[in-house]
Amino acid sequence: MTEAVIETRGLGKVYSAGTEAEVVALRDVHMSIGRGEFVAIMGPSGSGKSTLMNLLGCLDTPSEGVYLCDGVDIATLDAEQRAQLRLRTIGFVFQGFNLLTRMDALENVAMPLSYSEVPRAERLRRAQAALEAVGLGTRVHHRPSELSGGQQQRVAIARALINSPPVLLADEPTGALDTKTGEEILALFKRLRDDGHTVVLITHDPEVAVHADRVFVMRDGELHEQNESNRVPDIAPPDAGPWTEGAT
Ligand SMILES: Nc1ncnc2c1ncn2[C@@H]1O[C@H](COP(=O)(O)OP(=O)(O)OP(=O)(O)O)[C@@H](O)[C@H]1O
Ligand SMILES: [Mg+2]
Repeated sequence: MTEAVIETRGLGKVYSAGTEAEVVALRDVHMSIGRGEFVAIMGPSGSGKSTLMNLLGCLDTPSEGVYLCDGVDIATLDAEQRAQLRLRTIGFVFQGFNLLTRMDALENVAMPLSYSEVPRAERLRRAQAALEAVGLGTRVHHRPSELSGGQQQRVAIARALINSPPVLLADEPTGALDTKTGEEILALFKRLRDDGHTVVLITHDPEVAVHADRVFVMRDGELHEQNESNRVPDIAPPDAGPWTEGAT
């Protein structure tokens, strides 16, 4: 059993939006995810996937239960400490790409480091390495509007990885992509997993989920792990690809 990097016990989330009735978006979620695991979370629209992702990413706090992020109980942290933990531990790939349109790829990827002490020259050097690692070394000065959808998604992934966080959370990262580009992104996630990152991916698509080591299904705020026998053998291509060249 690997050491859990994400662990929740009885996690719950209730939204109270203005005058409307409360929404119980998550209830009693128990999950334990180890280092170097590639996990998919499936489930219909509105079932609570993004809510769970926001909690795991320390972007929101639970109404109930315990979340241990890399062994740290987040209830013991104030907002500033949570932000520090997030920066150190979590890379986030959002449902859209969330790139800044006025900046080129290099500056977008370097963004998370601007909150750190790292000098600018070093930030740009690391951003260059991260873009090379996702196969975009020749596009670093393109703005998002000058990149394809798959390339923008790879910029978003490079940005999520710039701090070398142990955990990568990705909300529908292949949803807006054509099949071939989606497969390239999945191959990238598998290489990250093989390099020891924990990857948690949200998807509507069963064909995407079969690539994961473990699959969870969310329904009405409840999370269940899929049966082991549903697993499909991993048939990753033998060529190592650019991510293995030690960019972290
Ligand atoms: N900030 C909020 N305030 C009130 N209710 C919310 C809020 N965010 C989400 N909800 C509600 O919580 C439930 C879960 O939403 P969530 O965004 O987690 O679903 P999802 O599984 O990610 O859906 P999708 O697949 O469409 O992205 C929904 O019923 C939604 O309307
Ligand atoms: Mg969502």
